[in-house]
Amino acid sequence: AYDASPFLPERPGRGNAGLRRLRDAAADCRGCPLHEDATQTVFGSGDARARVLLVGEQPGDQEDRRGEPFVGPAGRMLERALDEAGIDPAQSYVTNAVKHFKWAHEQGRGKRRIHKPPTLRETAACGPWLAAELALTEPEVLVVLGATAGKALFGSSFRVTKERGTCTEREVRGRSERVVPTIHPSAILRAENRDEVYAGFLSDLRVAARLLE
Ligand code: URA
Ligand code: SF4
Repeated sequence: AYDASPFLPERPGRGNAGLRRLRDAAADCRGCPLHEDATQTVFGSGDARARVLLVGEQPGDQEDRRGEPFVGPAGRMLERALDEAGIDPAQSYVTNAVKHFKWAHEQGRGKRRIHKPPTLRETAACGPWLAAELALTEPEVLVVLGATAGKALFGSSFRVTKERGTCTEREVRGRSERVVPTIHPSAILRAENRDEVYAGFLSDLRVAARLLE
């Protein structure tokens, strides 16, 4: 089976030094085939003392080129909403369920830089990195951005539409976490009624913000 575990350092250590060691090790991960076509590993970003951990789906085109999570259009949307919700970026750690960009392979057309959600096998393979990030940051709130992240963490029965904007205590990879699910910020970019969808996103993030007061 695909699995990142053999690539994780046995004892990464604590704090930002630990995160650095994880990030360095993840750069060489070959736990699933996604590393073959992607430009680089896109590890999480933020301080080990962050109070909120936000988990997205997987790096997009810009993230793949720059090696940092949420630096493209979805990232700008997220940044704006976090700011408006009063969640300090300095207290946020941002990462993805899957750490490599996914090229879409099309019959007869080669590989193209378009979005394709990761499979369950890929999210499962990459899970140990997210578990290690959670163990090191020990966030007060875990914000789940969208269905892919939710299914990666809680299984295929997870429904964003049902769970968004709620706060529940959940078991996440061996740890008990306070979890607030919401939509993925790229859903706002795709929506026709952007303002409305954005307002819903903001209201969900405010649920997380209140837990930090
Ligand atoms: N979408 C994601 O889920 N993650 C990123 O880092 C960028 C876009
Ligand atoms: Fe490793 Fe995750 Fe990249 Fe697959 S997607 S190679 S498991 S870092």
